[in-house]
Amino acid sequence: MKRLVINTLNKKAKIHKEIYGHFSEHLGRCIYEGLYVGEKSDIPNTNGMRNDVVKALKDINIPVLRWPGGCFADEYHWKDGIGPKENRKKMINTHWGGVTEDNSFGTHEFMELVDQLGCEAYINMNVGSGSVQEMSEWVEYLTFNGLSPMAALREKNGRKDPWNVKFIGVGNENWGCGGMMNPEHYANEYRRYATFCRNYTDKKLFKILCGPNVDDYNWTEGIMKTIAPILPVSGTDLVAGVSLHYYTHPGGWDNKGKALTFTKEEYYETISRTYYMEELIRRHSDIINRYDPDHTLGLIVDEWGTWYQVEEGTNPGFLYQQNTIRDAMVAGINLDIFNRHADRVRMANIAQMINVLQAVILTDGEKMIKTPTYHVFDLYKDHMDADLLESYLENEELTIEAHNVNPKTAPGGVSPEAWKFPKLSHSVSMSSDGSITVTIVNASDEDAESVKIIPVEYEIKDVAGRIVTGEVDAHNDFDDPDKVAVKEFTAFKTEGNTVIADLPKLSVVCLKIR
Ligand code: AHR
Repeated sequence: MKRLVINTLNKKAKIHKEIYGHFSEHLGRCIYEGLYVGEKSDIPNTNGMRNDVVKALKDINIPVLRWPGGCFADEYHWKDGIGPKENRKKMINTHWGGVTEDNSFGTHEFMELVDQLGCEAYINMNVGSGSVQEMSEWVEYLTFNGLSPMAALREKNGRKDPWNVKFIGVGNENWGCGGMMNPEHYANEYRRYATFCRNYTDKKLFKILCGPNVDDYNWTEGIMKTIAPILPVSGTDLVAGVSLHYYTHPGGWDNKGKALTFTKEEYYETISRTYYMEELIRRHSDIINRYDPDHTLGLIVDEWGTWYQVEEGTNPGFLYQQNTIRDAMVAGINLDIFNRHADRVRMANIAQMINVLQAVILTDGEKMIKTPTYHVFDLYKDHMDADLLESYLENEELTIEAHNVNPKTAPGGVSPEAWKFPKLSHSVSMSSDGSITVTIVNASDEDAESVKIIPVEYEIKDVAGRIVTGEVDAHNDFDDPDKVAVKEFTAFKTEGNTVIADLPKLSVVCLKIR
């Protein structure tokens, strides 16, 4: 039995709800088919947005949605996606499958979706192939309330009032698909672009600087050094967040494994690589801290999740993959890591919301299924906007021998002799009503574990539990949509002022303590 001690007197940081954010790109069947089917579709929709999908997303209280990319963002020209649909430019989506992009989903459609979901908008602007003027005019079109060329154009296109847009990404992966820049050059470009990204309302835009790919600490150092003179400390509001992208891909970038069939070693590798997120957050934060000791900047992990081979018979450029209990483990572990680093992690966006990579929803025509990852988001939703509590969990390490790992794609650039990870992951928060949310992942594929939860200075009156569990490759498909689902968890008892929970192997559990 392991002990989990919770210090209810030490609230360490607010877990911003945006940590539970999502990402939607013009990629494969994420936007088209997944979210947007058009007003004339037979699939039930409201103004073109699928009703079933919107309902499912609202049920997990999706807090923020990033759009239009990804790599697509740095070749997106927003004026192609406004005005009468029949006049909108048809173009090639060069990044993703070379398919025709007809721009029928543009600014008005995205803001309609955000409105239906009741979430914040996070719009990623084009630095790679755009211009300062194009970006500045998009911000004016979106947010300016008054007499101006862009406000007039918006009204001509059927929308008088401005929208509420909070988060603005200034470029995406500018070290790669967003322009192959070096960090100093990009950060200087950022200073110019962000200057003309005006605040037209009292609510200041939350502007996000393109941060590193995985463990590129040189990038973080370069951008921070260049951006330091304009940090909020100096009284400006040009930068509020720095992004970080890290995907879990067992086998490495060039030799990714499959989503549904994998070995025990691949499972251990997947979980071990997932834990690398913690080191990345810590080490990039250490660099950021040197330039921003007051923690005014948020770390925005706006792309995370598993990335496997595409499902057989699907377009390789569409990045469509299935999702199993293994992905549920990855989701729970990542969300726990973000929660535990809530003092720095201000937002995170799983890649991607529907039909792409570690999706929470998959669709096939009019059918829709919720993946195991969706159910983990459901389990964790009470952490949103709660206070992270100090906690300590006894743990043990699980390990398996590693074979033939390419050092180039190994975490930290060194081939490990073994894949290792802690058996249990957890995070604990207190909501505004005083209730405690404890989430625990037992990632062992062999053994159950009992955990004795000891909340200090808290009187337990009531406990309720929910669980997601199954065989490691258990998943939902269109013939069996509810094989993996959230179930009531009753394998616990209260003993004195403690709770003893028996966690099955391969389980994600949420205990609500009141
Ligand atoms: O999510 C898929 C792609 O991964 C995004 O477009 C890009 O930003 C990243 O490389």
